[in-house]
Amino acid sequence: MKLYATKAEIYDRMIQSAGKHYKEESGLIANILQKSFKGRNPPVLDLGCGTGTHAAELIRQGFNVICGDINKEMLAIAKKKTGAECLEMDMRRFLLRKKVGAIICLYNTLFYNQNAEELMSTFSSCRINLEPGGILILQVTDPSLFRGDKNTSFTWALNNREIVVQSTFIRLPRMLHHFSFINLDTKKEESDWHEMRIFPLRAIKDSLIKCGFCCIKITKDKNTLYITGRRK
Ligand SMILES: C[S@@+](CC[C@H](N)C(=O)[O-])C[C@H]1O[C@@H](n2cnc3c(N)ncnc32)[C@H](O)[C@@H]1O
Repeated sequence: MKLYATKAEIYDRMIQSAGKHYKEESGLIANILQKSFKGRNPPVLDLGCGTGTHAAELIRQGFNVICGDINKEMLAIAKKKTGAECLEMDMRRFLLRKKVGAIICLYNTLFYNQNAEELMSTFSSCRINLEPGGILILQVTDPSLFRGDKNTSFTWALNNREIVVQSTFIRLPRMLHHFSFINLDTKKEESDWHEMRIFPLRAIKDSLIKCGFCCIKITKDKNTLYITGRRK
């Protein structure tokens, strides 16, 4: 996945030009955390933190955030941006030194689990690393929007030298997400394939319950779902 390794440095510009609202989203997440923490301020793990933009915003608001990602290139940027503890980890299997009060897993990171077993493994790892009563917050694009067999494609110009063509091939239940980086000067093209799995909302809820989460709540904000569950 070049986007998270050799192209990590353009990730922020790319996502910005796609119009993602990190600040507003972090506000929404901060509200959920505050309600859940009731005056306490336990550590929060940003699982699949990427370049740490949500984490930085939450730290600015006074939360105590630890960043975790499988790609060290993304983590290096997160470290610079947040100054937080940044740990290389696989969401499917990780163990923190100390349990945390919340885990946030944002922007479709969950869909990098390739099958039901991996999804369960991720939720079980989250459960093990959460304090009893701790909260898990998942942010995903509404899975129902991926139904159908149409392929969609977006082209983003980052500047007048490099463009990114993002092609999305949707074939439920597997989704192949193709990025093509084209340098307009050299006319060189680099291809990047991401294999993702779009889990239906029902499957996410059922897996959470099987892995020991309760009080599952869904909040919808335009095309984005916030799914929260509490560790029993
Ligand atoms: C779409 S990005 C989201 C990044 C960040 N949360 C954001 O909102 O910008 C997905 C992130 O998940 C990470 N990732 C993919 N598979 C992972 C895994 N198995 N464990 C931990 N992180 C993973 C990638 O390295 C990437 O940083």
